[in-house]
Formats: sequence, structure tokens, C-alpha cells
Amino acid sequence: MLPLIRSATLENFADADGVPDPALAVPLYAALSAPTVVTGFVAVSPDGRAMQPRQAGLWNDAQRDAWGGIVSEVRRARPGVRLLAQLAHAGLQTTRPGAISPSGGRSPYFRNPSRTMSPDDIRRVVSDFAAAATRARTAGFDGVQVHAAHGYLAHQFLSPATNRRRDEWGEPGRFLADVLRAVRAAAPPPFAVWIKAGPDATALSAERLADALVPLAAEGLLDLVEVSFGTMDRALDIFRGGCPLDLLLHENPLYRRRVPRALAPLWRKLAAPLVLRRFRPFSPCYNLDAALAIKRRTGARVAVVGGFRSGEEISAALAAGADAVSLCRPFLREPGFADRLARDPAARSRCASCNRCAIACDGDEPTRCHLVP
Ligand SMILES: Cc1cc2nc3c(=O)[nH]c(=O)nc-3n(C[C@H](O)[C@H](O)[C@H](O)COP(=O)(O)O)c2cc1C
Repeated sequence: MLPLIRSATLENFADADGVPDPALAVPLYAALSAPTVVTGFVAVSPDGRAMQPRQAGLWNDAQRDAWGGIVSEVRRARPGVRLLAQLAHAGLQTTRPGAISPSGGRSPYFRNPSRTMSPDDIRRVVSDFAAAATRARTAGFDGVQVHAAHGYLAHQFLSPATNRRRDEWGEPGRFLADVLRAVRAAAPPPFAVWIKAGPDATALSAERLADALVPLAAEGLLDLVEVSFGTMDRALDIFRGGCPLDLLLHENPLYRRRVPRALAPLWRKLAAPLVLRRFRPFSPCYNLDAALAIKRRTGARVAVVGGFRSGEEISAALAAGADAVSLCRPFLREPGFADRLARDPAARSRCASCNRCAIACDGDEPTRCHLVP
């Protein structure tokens, strides 16, 4: 079996208190054919939630118990599957009140004010990550993935664009190291502790990111780095491909507010082409070079995610040195894609990278592929 990972994919299947719904979660995970499955964004605290209304959490025991039931049901359906919970804090990338971040300010996209974290805030969030990891272990997960990519809080500490602190947490890798040490102390091996990290289009280059990760790798804090790209301010740089404007104007709460219905046709004609031109276009395997550079520089094991659509591309990435390959949209399109690849190594994903899944997941309904009837 290829070392494939279902990359974290926000499921939107929790209630307003962040408790995941087993009736939605169990069939979803049980249908996935990837040998390793990472859950979507699971918030470590109420103030760590991103803008999506139905994301799950692991900050209390009710959430832990719901996850525990889900994990044991999925294991019954798919013996041998490896399950990791993706632990995250949104920092300033949220529309919710009370946002916190390394140096305050607003993100250009969310435009929500955030408060600079005090040392006590930082220590509290570090211990929230550790407590969430303990709950993940008790719930039966095989590990956690600390989300340090896509512009969320740990990424905000890594990037000089959002971290202008003069204290010890001004050092780019310091917050992430604190989180990983605390998580490791709470959940010793063989519990897996991965991170997802990636450069972005503004201030965090792959070289700068690799430099920040070197001491963490030397300390043995990085079991595996899943390499992605971008921030939610420019989300189409993360999941490249199409931009369904109808869905964007209809489902995205920020666009619904900013582009009144009467102006939508004008916006589509005049503004949308300018907005869309800023994003990077889809190309196959678009994070492979960065992943291999990070592996070379840190010596850590890497998985690579972004634009893998065929058995040939996956095999080539593994031959080039990636330790695993992660896929998100192809598994939304076809949960059995890994089984089809096992039967036919030349198989191609039916995902069209249209991004209807990505745009719609800012709304209220569970995430799904909109091309599947
Ligand atoms: C609908 C959707 C939800 C996503 N949710 C998450 C998430 O919760 N956490 C995360 O790290 N990445 C998330 N991503 C990003 C993917 O994990 C992945 O990095 C990106 O889609 C590129 O991989 P792909 O080309 O295989 O889709 C999401 C992407 C999509 C399309």
C-alpha cells in the first residue's frame, strides 16, 4: 500500500458547541481508503475557532467522548487505519470576537481586530494544545497533527509578517517548539506528533521556514512535517484551481456582506478578474520542491500535499524523497481513490480542482464534493 494520507479536511460536522456528530463522522471516515486519515481543523480552545460555524473542538470532555465513539466505530469498520486529530488555533484568522495573535492587528481578508497575546495567553494556549492532545489520546487517536500552516496561530508566530514580538516568542520557531514539547510531554511515543507547515506568498519563504524548523528537528520534536503552502488570506493559493464565483458570493459570509446582491454582477465583471489574477494557478504536485528542500535542510521526514492527482505523480514524489503523499480533494471526490490506486497504479483522480468543496465549506453544510450527485 502506498504511504498515502488523507490530508486534513474541515468536515463541518459538529454542533455549535464543537461536538462532532457521529452519524456524519463515522460513515465519512469509514469510507476513506487512505491508510492514514487526519481529521479536519479541530480547535484547541473556544477562542481558537476559525470562522466556519460547524467545526469540531477538543477543549472539553463532551467533545472527547464524541470523538472516542467515532474513533472506535471507525476502527471497527476499518481495522488498521491510522487516525490523527489535527489540532489548531486560528489566531487572527477568524471572524469571531476576542481574536488573539502574536502581535495584534487584523488580517487583510478577515479584517477582524486581534489582541496581542501576553506571555500568560501564550502559556495558556500551549497548555490548551497539550490538553487537547491528552483528550485525543484518551479518545483513541494514534496521534495529532499540530496545524502550523495556512496562516493559523502557529504560522503567525513563524512569519515575520505577523510576529513582530521583542520577547522570546519573537524567535520564529519558539511558540511551535513550546507547543510540541508540551504535546510530547502529554502524549509520549508511540503516539505520533506531526506538524503541517508551509511557506506563504508574503513573508515566509521555504528557506525561512526550514531555518525555523532546524532546531525543532534537532531536538527530535518533528515526527513528520506535512508541507503545504499559503494562508487563508489568500486561500486559493492553498487549494489551487477554479474559483466558483456563484458559490463564493452565495456561501461565503464575508463576500455576502461585502458585495451586496445588487452589485454582484458588476463585481463579477470588474473586480473578480483582478482578484483572481493574484492567485497562483494550479499545477501538479505544487509543493513538492518546498517539501524536499525542507527535508534536506532539517533531516525531518516529510509528507507533501497539494495537487497530487495520479499514481504516477505520487510514485514520482516518493522516488524523489518524500516519505508520504497527502491528498485532500481527491478523497472528497472519491473516498475509495487509494483502493483504486492499489488496483491500478496508473489511476487518475476524478477531482477537477473546481474548489466548490472549499468555497462551500465556509457555509453551514457538511463538506462534500459538489460533482458527486
Ligand atoms: C474543503 C477543504 C477543506 C480543507 N480543510 C483543511 C483543514 O481543516 N486543515 C488543513 O490543514 N487543510 C485543509 N484543507 C487544505 C488541504 O488539506 C490541502 O492542503 C489542499 O487542499 C491541497 O491538497 P489537494 O490538492 O490534495 O486538495 C482543506 C481543503 C479543502 C478543499
